[in-house]
Amino acid sequence: MASGKKRPLTQSEGGAGERPRLLTGLQPSGQLHIGNYFGALKPFLEAYTGYESFLMVADYHALTTLKKPEELEKHTLNAVLDYLGAGMDPAKVIIFRQSEVKQHTELAWIFECLVTVPFLMQAHAYKDKVAKGIEPNAGLFNYPMLMAADILLYDTEIVPVGQDQRQHIEYAREAAAKFNNTYGNTFKEPKELILDSIAAVLGTDGQKMSKSYKNTIPLFGTEEEIHKAVMGIVTDSSGDRPENVYAIHRLFKTDSELTIIYDSNKGNYKKLKEILATDIEAVVAPMRKRRETYANDMPTVRAILKKGKEKTEKIAEIKMKTVRTKIGLGPL
Ligand code: ADP
Ligand code: TRP
Repeated sequence: MASGKKRPLTQSEGGAGERPRLLTGLQPSGQLHIGNYFGALKPFLEAYTGYESFLMVADYHALTTLKKPEELEKHTLNAVLDYLGAGMDPAKVIIFRQSEVKQHTELAWIFECLVTVPFLMQAHAYKDKVAKGIEPNAGLFNYPMLMAADILLYDTEIVPVGQDQRQHIEYAREAAAKFNNTYGNTFKEPKELILDSIAAVLGTDGQKMSKSYKNTIPLFGTEEEIHKAVMGIVTDSSGDRPENVYAIHRLFKTDSELTIIYDSNKGNYKKLKEILATDIEAVVAPMRKRRETYANDMPTVRAILKKGKEKTEKIAEIKMKTVRTKIGLGPL
């Protein structure tokens, strides 16, 4: 094929074939919170059965910050349990660990040799860390190229993420375009799926909810933990509606349902928080139960990961054979 000419890649070339692909990943760097659920998992759950879907535990990404082996292991298994608990049907989604598919790091290196240092220096995630005085490791700097590899290896079409990941998907598109321009059409440019209404879930302090800000409501916390986090939401007594409580409540109830609740409990912040905790519990309880069932059956969970590794490795290797040949690293 002439370099640069566009035609869809066939499955034997590592292309997606008939069904478009959907992929997302979460770093196993701590307990999942409701921001992760509404920002990444719920949009994925709403879409995944219509695609060939992949859900990845981004353990190599977590390594940029996590240095305790036992924690990384624990969080990795927990991430898989969280996915299953949240309602992913393992028969309909390929769940896998990034580190078990070596082609991801191989392709990341190839992208790193194509993009420039100033280009990577524009990454918000990197700039934020530097601005906070954190000395970034080289893994953190190269992070967007590993993420580009995660996505592009599978000819992913749609990537459900929260707002903060938008730039990373742009990086993936840039990496694809750069490679395609240099070596000929090989990678599909992916699109992000960001639900505007829940793009950035606010935490208990009114800032973006994030593991790093200690302002989370844990998705799979116990009923007591969730209750405690909700009661700790910072309230501002200037208006008659506690905005930080309301912002989270909107994820669980419609505006018209909330108008009735907030009108009849004006100024009673404690009561409103209690109602919110109950509403969260109603959504979380069945998920927690499903998670427990899997947690009591770890052989099944390990088998799911094994199957995921086998499937993704096969697809990734087909793609990498094409890539290696195109760049001059194929069989001699
Ligand atoms: P954290 O900021 O807690 O470390 P991650 O960076 O691991 O979260 O994010 C995992 C996924 O969850 C990403 O797709 C991210 O966009 C999404 N996400 C994280 N926090 C939020 C939030 N507060 N609102 C919406 N989505 C979020
Ligand atoms: N960077 C993402 C985050 O912190 C996690 C991630 C890694 C990811 N690889 C990915 C998300 C590929 C989507 C697709 O949330």
